[in-house]
Amino acid sequence: MVSRSLACRRVVPSLRNSSWSSLPKFGGCWRYTSQAASSLLQACEPSVYSTRKEEDEYADVDWDNLGFGLMPTDYMYQMKCAQNGTFERGQVRPYGNIELSPSAGVLNYGQGLFEGLKAYRKENGSLLLFRPVQNAIRMKVGADRMCMPAPSVEQFVDAVRETALANKRWVPPPGKGSLYIRPLLMGSGPILGLAPAPEFTFLIYASPVSTYFKEGTAPLSLYIENEFDRASRGGTGGIKTITNYAPVLKALSRAKSRGFSDVLYLDSVDKKNLEEASSCNIFVLKGNVLATPATKGTILSGITRKSIIEISRDLGYQVEERAIPVEELMEAEEVFCTGTAVVVASVGSVTYKDKRIEFGTGAQTACRRLYDILVGIQMGHIKDKYGWVMEIN
Ligand code: COI
Repeated sequence: MVSRSLACRRVVPSLRNSSWSSLPKFGGCWRYTSQAASSLLQACEPSVYSTRKEEDEYADVDWDNLGFGLMPTDYMYQMKCAQNGTFERGQVRPYGNIELSPSAGVLNYGQGLFEGLKAYRKENGSLLLFRPVQNAIRMKVGADRMCMPAPSVEQFVDAVRETALANKRWVPPPGKGSLYIRPLLMGSGPILGLAPAPEFTFLIYASPVSTYFKEGTAPLSLYIENEFDRASRGGTGGIKTITNYAPVLKALSRAKSRGFSDVLYLDSVDKKNLEEASSCNIFVLKGNVLATPATKGTILSGITRKSIIEISRDLGYQVEERAIPVEELMEAEEVFCTGTAVVVASVGSVTYKDKRIEFGTGAQTACRRLYDILVGIQMGHIKDKYGWVMEIN
């Protein structure tokens, strides 16, 4: 049993002291040797960490039975921004509930965004973050749409790094999963009339995770939704606002109660073209052509989606970002979903208007090949020729 130190569960000052952008790249990997961990140690009672035993390197977790449930970790990160639009210096602080005004913009009008990214533990003990700059940029784009100021790319990446390092003992052993890092940006200030909040909070928490779906790595069964839409033209489907997610719960719960893994949505105008699933993007393969819906405002610009497009093109697939009629899906050889939480998940069947179509799955599929390459890069097993991985320790 690991004893969690109370002495360390007090507010720890911000730990940043260098910038990601000024750091050299080694072998396609951002090597970020920061003072964060040592500053954290200094900020705590010296006896606590200096007497740390071997077993304290890991939290007391059953690593073989991780799913995608919330497991609170030691620390979170918090940074506030007042009306002048500038985020003050953030802080790593003990994980816990936050206080919000009942009239906070996020509670009343849904002024909020979230992000998701993962840290993997390498055999040498350092941590690997996957494309955190992309999350920072996506949050900026979303913040603009939701009338919120956003942290700079440097502030965002630095905060993610600090959160991951502070919670290092919660990062699963190599091969057992990852630390899912969840940055939030919200209108935290009080407001009654409909307007942007007068204060904003950037917050990051984390949880160790393994596979997203209860199916584990088994193929998914998707249900094409005809009644409910996920996004509409001119709406917010293309950004990661919190308001894109609660509205799909009805369709998702209904599909799950009928035994499906997730819902696949159609465009809200013609109900003809594929959009995405509740929690991930979709790809359709036939022959050498790999198609995925184009990101024209209603489709989330997934970072895994973008990475899979690049890897697939390098492997020689003809990747097409365009409208995909549901009839084309019915003719596909393979279908798979991509997302940070989902990674690359094979789809075994899609049900549309009571018709169930099956697709190729298993070890010989393009989906498996792409999964192996992506995860190999993320875990540091495959050379990262793209410069996507940031090593932190
Ligand atoms: C992610 O893949 O990180 C997401 O944000 C999807 C979420 C529904 C878990």
